Amino acid sequence: MAKDKPVVPELPLVGRITDYLEGDAPKEVRKAIAGAGKKDVLDPAYPYRTEMSSSDYDAHHARLQLQLVRMMHDVVATGKRVVVLFEGRDAAGKGGTIERMRENLNPRNCYIVALPKPTEREAGQWYFQRYVDWLPAAGEIALFDRSWYNRGVVERVFGFSSDQQRHAFFRQLPGFEQTLVDDGIVLVKLWLNVGRAEQLKRFIDREQDPLKQWKLSSIDVDGLARWDDYTDAIRDTLNLSHSPIAPWTVIRSDDKRRARIAAMQTVLNAIDYAGRDADAIGAVDPLIAGGPAMLD
Ligand code: ADP
Ligand code: AMP
Ligand code: MLT
Repeated sequence: MAKDKPVVPELPLVGRITDYLEGDAPKEVRKAIAGAGKKDVLDPAYPYRTEMSSSDYDAHHARLQLQLVRMMHDVVATGKRVVVLFEGRDAAGKGGTIERMRENLNPRNCYIVALPKPTEREAGQWYFQRYVDWLPAAGEIALFDRSWYNRGVVERVFGFSSDQQRHAFFRQLPGFEQTLVDDGIVLVKLWLNVGRAEQLKRFIDREQDPLKQWKLSSIDVDGLARWDDYTDAIRDTLNLSHSPIAPWTVIRSDDKRRARIAAMQTVLNAIDYAGRDADAIGAVDPLIAGGPAMLD
């Protein structure tokens, strides 16, 4: 078992996910994981019972990759600036979706922003300041793997900032995002929504895969028992930040393939680029992606 021989020596967290599954995990979550076939989607509220076939996925994915390359070319040629925020619970699939979105794009023009927790100096700055440093210049696309929305969710659940700081954040947020959009930045906000059993299954997979163990953090482990606190924080955050100028697209992410397709479609639809092929992009599945009401 990988549990006994982690490739990275300092991984004391390995084993704690299995402990949770066998101990404190809600019964229905345990049952969903135990009873599922390889291709089954675990969340009973998910609109499809099995994951998308690989042939359907590959064909659509290939068409979307061509559109992304065309979009990138236009962004560079016309000097557009694009910000895409990827948000969602741990193991929602942010990292994998970002990788698929940028696999054929020029890393010079399309970069990932995955900031660590704020340093002491950053903690003493205006909250948005360190994110501003990473905003795109003309011809650039910035893909944020987590973002300023940490303040509304993980920081609330774990008490990393005060109520006063969070209230200030939500007061400033509409003006901040309005400023970016007014200045001509295309702002796309994606919320990947994963169910409880699927999240736990992904954590177990990480724990058992020596190549993925590094992805586990104490936040992931300690967050398991705080599922409902996250749910409340996420609902409040989306309600306070969904607006006509900076809307959220919530994407059901229990099936990674459908989620990746919907994420790419949403980004391509948000950017006005020369040579867009609406047939190649295809219609976004309304059962997979929509507004904050998708959370319920
Ligand atoms: P990730 O899921 O992004 O790999 P984690 O699950 O460990 O990382 O943490 C979730 C988020 O919480 C990260 O964006 C991290 O920077 C943030 N975070 C962790 N500790 C703190 C802290 N003490 N103060 C503020 N943010 C924190
Ligand atoms: P409180 O009881 O004041 O700590 O607020 C509970 C939660 O409601 C906060 O964590 C916020 O996410 C959310 N909330 C609702 N309205 C506001 C608001 N106007 N400003 C900030 N947070 C709000
Ligand atoms: C994800 O899977 O959502 C991201 O890669 C990050 C994580 O969950 O740790």
